[in-house]
Amino acid sequence: MDIARTPATPDGNPEMADAATEPHKPAIIKREDYTPFGWVVPEVQIEFELGLELTRVVATLKVERNTAAERTPTIRLNGDGLTVRELQCDGETCEGYMMDGDDLVVTLPGDNHALRIVTEISPAANSQLMGLYASNGMLCTQCEAEGFRRITFFPDRPDVLSTYTVRMSGPKAQFPILLCNGNRTATGEQGENHWAEWHDPWPKPSYLFALVAGDLVARSDSFTTMNGRKVELNVWVRDGDLERTEHAMESLKRSMKWDEETFGREYDLDLFNIVAVSDFNMGAMENKGLNVFNTKYVLADPETATDGDYDGIEGVIGHEYFHNWSGNRITCRDWFQLSLKEGFTVLRDQLFSQDMGSAPVKRIEDVRVLRGVQFPEDSGPLAHPIRPDSYSEINNFYTATVYNKGAEVIRMMRTMAGEERFRAGTDLYFDRHDGEAATCEDFVKSIEDGAGLDLEQFRLWYSQAGTPKVTAKLDHSGETAKLTLKQHVPPTPGQDSKRPMPIPLKIALFDRASGTHRGEELVVLDKAEDTFAFDGFAEAPVLSINRTFSAPITIERSAPREDLVFLAAKDDDPFARYEAMQELMGGHLVAAVSGELGENERIAAQADIARAMGAVLVDESLDDLMRGELMTLPSQSYLAEQMLVADPTRIHEEREALKAFLGKELRDEFHALYDRAEKAPYSLDLASRGARKVKTLVLAFAAASDPAKAVELAAHQYDNADNMTDRQGALMVLTGIDSAERTGRLLDFYNRYEGNALVIDKWFSLQASSLHPNAIEHVKALREHPDFTLKNPNRVRSLYMAFAGTPHHFHSPDGEGYRMIADLILELDPINPQTAARFVPPLGRWRRIEPKRAAMMREQLERIAAAPKLSRDTFEQVTRSLG
Ligand code: PHE
Ligand code: ZN
Repeated sequence: MDIARTPATPDGNPEMADAATEPHKPAIIKREDYTPFGWVVPEVQIEFELGLELTRVVATLKVERNTAAERTPTIRLNGDGLTVRELQCDGETCEGYMMDGDDLVVTLPGDNHALRIVTEISPAANSQLMGLYASNGMLCTQCEAEGFRRITFFPDRPDVLSTYTVRMSGPKAQFPILLCNGNRTATGEQGENHWAEWHDPWPKPSYLFALVAGDLVARSDSFTTMNGRKVELNVWVRDGDLERTEHAMESLKRSMKWDEETFGREYDLDLFNIVAVSDFNMGAMENKGLNVFNTKYVLADPETATDGDYDGIEGVIGHEYFHNWSGNRITCRDWFQLSLKEGFTVLRDQLFSQDMGSAPVKRIEDVRVLRGVQFPEDSGPLAHPIRPDSYSEINNFYTATVYNKGAEVIRMMRTMAGEERFRAGTDLYFDRHDGEAATCEDFVKSIEDGAGLDLEQFRLWYSQAGTPKVTAKLDHSGETAKLTLKQHVPPTPGQDSKRPMPIPLKIALFDRASGTHRGEELVVLDKAEDTFAFDGFAEAPVLSINRTFSAPITIERSAPREDLVFLAAKDDDPFARYEAMQELMGGHLVAAVSGELGENERIAAQADIARAMGAVLVDESLDDLMRGELMTLPSQSYLAEQMLVADPTRIHEEREALKAFLGKELRDEFHALYDRAEKAPYSLDLASRGARKVKTLVLAFAAASDPAKAVELAAHQYDNADNMTDRQGALMVLTGIDSAERTGRLLDFYNRYEGNALVIDKWFSLQASSLHPNAIEHVKALREHPDFTLKNPNRVRSLYMAFAGTPHHFHSPDGEGYRMIADLILELDPINPQTAARFVPPLGRWRRIEPKRAAMMREQLERIAAAPKLSRDTFEQVTRSLG
């Protein structure tokens, strides 16, 4: 039962009042406690009588004893906020049941039964957006992880697989389109009402169930699979949005083709539907044959979507489609195995996007997300292995660790095996486990057997949390270069000491004079310390290490700045070039922030950075997309991560100072670059996207060094923009600088796009994450804006995630940023706990922030913890964060 949601104690009862002030302790679920369910449910039939206010659900479950499990007299059917309206067993009214918390426990004498359960739910009142809910007058579902139990009583666990037959009926005018998983088998009309029957032939767990009913229109197309089967494809949206679905459809077709070519995976139904909804907790959901998407990852046209939005759509469409094999055909045995489907599917979508666009730039973007989000998670109070050992609320484990580090771990296997052998491993995995609810161990074993790798020690990556730190030292004597590597995996909550893990590092040793190397090598560091010798070097070479980011670790090496300048200009691995620039700038900024830097040192470091950056600006061998990466400063959060205890104000100041310095020093080069890029006409080609990227970067440097000039350029870019990338980039820069142009363009932007929710989200975000000193006041005012609502997760995130992700505002020295986020969490928790809990981690970073602020952050966490009736989601995150 959800203890954390029990009603408050009545007044005046001292005993009860005492109990209420005791901290609530929701049950902890442990991975080692897994036992198979006592029953199998081969078939499910559900009838939905649909209504926004009231939906009646009649579910019939065919249940049989699971001969592989211990015999039990009862069957536990999970529920969440449901009451039993009717219960029949084998056609007779059933009295032999009891409620255990929210669950229904039915006594079953025999080995085979049919259970018929009637429930009634209110979609319109469902603000959690889990289960069946209303969004903009339509009905839709979200069942992962435990939403199905809000629709009907069911063994709501991923290892119970059933075939579903669904009949849905409702008012034809209100819900002209009725969709469910699988294939539509029959339709009919009855007066004002109509109905549809759907059958999904593939057994699936309840979390993959989906239903949609509403007034929708589709962009339709088809795809012919490698075995010649024609699949009907639809992207369903609200009337008026159809013109913005072309990119989504094209991305879907590309995904289907790519998965056949790259992983040998073919689609397995005659129909594939995607539905866009505007109220959605996450990005999208891979329900069998009926993916439900946040509108953010479907709708795009040049006028309203940025290049980044286009990429996001392609990536998420790919991701959900790829789940059909890595997630649906093979699902998870239990939620501790979440990375089995998510880590693998993230890797698949990353490789897909690499193949569709610029592979090196995509790799850099993925590493940036890993470092910006997952590294902080892994070094804080919420650190957990990619396969966690315990949880209280599973929603809290849809994390960057499970998803992104999970992908990195599988990517390492691929790096060690090589592409071909890795493919043999995934083929074996799909073969062996098709139709099953599998474990991470099943996956590793398949790769081990199929690819011919020994992964025994490598399995530690699944059980140990924390980002390994590798120290690299290169010595040279005679003709030999000697690389000494040491690894350290820091302690994390519940894991005080760690064992060394196998760390695959791609390296190259550069000859200084020629700027070349004699071939990339893969070294695997699998001990605490090891030395690798390389012969034939008359001179000391320059070390390029962790090329392509072959392992998700941090490298510590004290490379001389001249080596970094060398690599930034000459490394043939674009990632390593990016890395050298990051290290060059990051090393300087960390030293500057810590106050260790003498004036002469500062001048020397800045000069080296300007030299490297100057070369980047004019290097004709670079495309602009890559140039843009090399021009990007390390983020504030990545810099903070490199310090034991960070002072966010100092980080921000030094970072802005470096931008200002470079903006002045390289003024002419920046403007020449801008002038060239400005001539590129709009298209979605990589060259044209690159031009837009460097343009806005130049504006950002100008904003730091010459604000008046930046305002002039940005206003011009805004006014002449024929696409959202240019317009948003210009407005981003303007929003940070107090000026008449700022006010005017912000107003223009709002008026231009009023009513387009996704674009208005951008308007909120730009103001919440701006460089403007009064951003906190702006956020407070925007909270009162008529377009703001706590009911829509995109809107909440557009204002508050943007704010919490902007360190120089969130860490305002007076603690106002912390108070605002805590207020939000308390207000949002009763409405949408899943989304509310996602705002806790920024406050949870207190141990790594200077003591004055750390105390204020803790104070806010304690204030939240003291609130009555906290959701299990928020309660767990706050408790873990307080540690
Ligand atoms: N399984 C979804 C994905 O990764 C994410 C998701 C989780 C969506 C939970 C909704 C709820 O594609
Ligand atoms: Zn996923």
